[in-house]
Amino acid sequence: MLSAAIILSLGYLIWSASAGGTSGATTVLPVVLWHGMGDTCCLPFSLGSIKKLIEEHTNGTYVRSLKIGGNVVLDYESGFFVHPNEQVEYVCKHLAQDERLAKGYNAIGFSQGGQFLRAVAQRCPEPPMRTLITLGGQHQGVFGLPKCPTLTATSCEYLSRLLNEAAYEEWVQDELVQATYWHDPLHENHYRLGSTFLADINNELYLNENYIENLNKLKKFVMVKFLNDTIVQPKDSQWFQFYTSGQDQVIQPFNESKVYKDLGLDRMLRKGKLQFLGIEGDHLAISKAWFIEHLVPLLLLA
Ligand SMILES: *[C@@H]1O[C@H](CO)[C@@H](O)[C@H](O)[C@H]1NC(C)=O
Ligand SMILES: *[C@@H]1O[C@H](CO)[C@@H](O)[C@H](O)[C@H]1NC(C)=O
Ligand SMILES: *[C@@H]1O[C@H](CO)[C@@H](O)[C@H](O)[C@H]1NC(C)=O
Repeated sequence: MLSAAIILSLGYLIWSASAGGTSGATTVLPVVLWHGMGDTCCLPFSLGSIKKLIEEHTNGTYVRSLKIGGNVVLDYESGFFVHPNEQVEYVCKHLAQDERLAKGYNAIGFSQGGQFLRAVAQRCPEPPMRTLITLGGQHQGVFGLPKCPTLTATSCEYLSRLLNEAAYEEWVQDELVQATYWHDPLHENHYRLGSTFLADINNELYLNENYIENLNKLKKFVMVKFLNDTIVQPKDSQWFQFYTSGQDQVIQPFNESKVYKDLGLDRMLRKGKLQFLGIEGDHLAISKAWFIEHLVPLLLLA
């Protein structure tokens, strides 16, 4: 299914007139990419093409597209079955071993790769992440799974039922990645106590000061929301917003949410570090032109 893969438009690359002027040539930081569910690190029609695009527009800066596990099949399966805490730990270890990242790097997360990279920023301040860009990330989780990229309808239905009925059971948390960021606004307490990933990185179970400090070390945290997203429910989670507790219709204003203060997002906002971008289109449907116009300049910032 194409829906969740990265869809690059057919538009030709335009080397804009300003390209020469803005390219900081040798000072462009390396870029780390983390793919989403149902995707992998390196296939030419998905993150492989993004890697190439970034290289072309940053004068060949080092781009590392994360592969979780020893091969592409494991990498694909990790998006469903390897607990995010284990994945984040694996990534932290590999980033720390990568000498080319020692002076810092920028990071781009696709879909759930967005909140996973945020966890990397919060848990592993070395090497330093400078700018974090999340594309369609689910920072406050999801409540609903209208479509499952690359899965058959039957497996998708099974996943949905499992999430609806048993997301916070220990075995489901252990075995299904999507359960770890399943956020049931009708049962906030079950979520807080049962979510073994999101409730932790959002400081909802207890306040981890390191998470606040480390996240605030970012120079910029850019959240891209797909305005016509049919996969992420609610769409607002991509901008770190969620339903007001107790119902699933009304979205709580960002600055009134608990996580806004409890994760130091208020401080980041005051310092101008948060940026909210909206793009028309379905989940991860980015065009090359949009990527070049809006995201490449963020990578060129020293
Ligand atoms: C890339 O970097 C090289 C060496 O610093 C420089 O000569 C060249 O003009 C740069 N190209 C672009 C497209 O910025
Ligand atoms: C996408 O969503 C935006 C914002 O809600 C809306 O204005 C626009 O008409 C939608 N576009 C399509 C193609 O549905
Ligand atoms: C949240 O922000 C809005 C404007 O964006 C403002 O009117 C409102 O007073 C703020 N609420 C709080 C609790 O700071």
